[in-house]
Amino acid sequence: MLDTTVFNCNVLTLPKIHNRAGNITALNNFRDIPFDVNRVYYLYDVPGGEDRGGHAHRELQQLVVAVSGSFDITIDDGRNKKTISLNRPYYGLHIIPEIWRDLTNFSSGAICLVLASHKYDANDYIRDYEQFIQMKTCK
Ligand code: TYD
Repeated sequence: MLDTTVFNCNVLTLPKIHNRAGNITALNNFRDIPFDVNRVYYLYDVPGGEDRGGHAHRELQQLVVAVSGSFDITIDDGRNKKTISLNRPYYGLHIIPEIWRDLTNFSSGAICLVLASHKYDANDYIRDYEQFIQMKTCK
């Protein structure tokens, strides 16, 4: 992917099927999500004041949804930063490769659902911010 800036990370409005008994959001590969989903995971029981993330991925794309509660995601492409508050189960932040992310301000009981384009691979992580900046500025 050539142009991996924060401006290419969009908040998608996800479909909502509503009736008086509540809502359903169903996500289909490629139709509602701009990549093929190969892994689903979720963060929960995040203690008050704890942060998550603090890394970038080389190849991985993700759709991040606050299915319950709320949290903030700061995305960073080495030049620009953007903070997005996720607080509804029908919004999903699409994070493209080579974007640093920090997840903060988890509300009590928040659940962060992540749909990911690849299976877990420790080698896909960039955990050193200096290395990330170097990688972005060498392009
Ligand atoms: P990490 O992705 O660093 O968490 P976060 O970005 O939410 O702070 O992962 C935390 C730990 O969990 C790390 O040891 C790797 C492990 N892990 C897996 O084994 N499989 C997975 O799919 C994920 C996302 C993490």
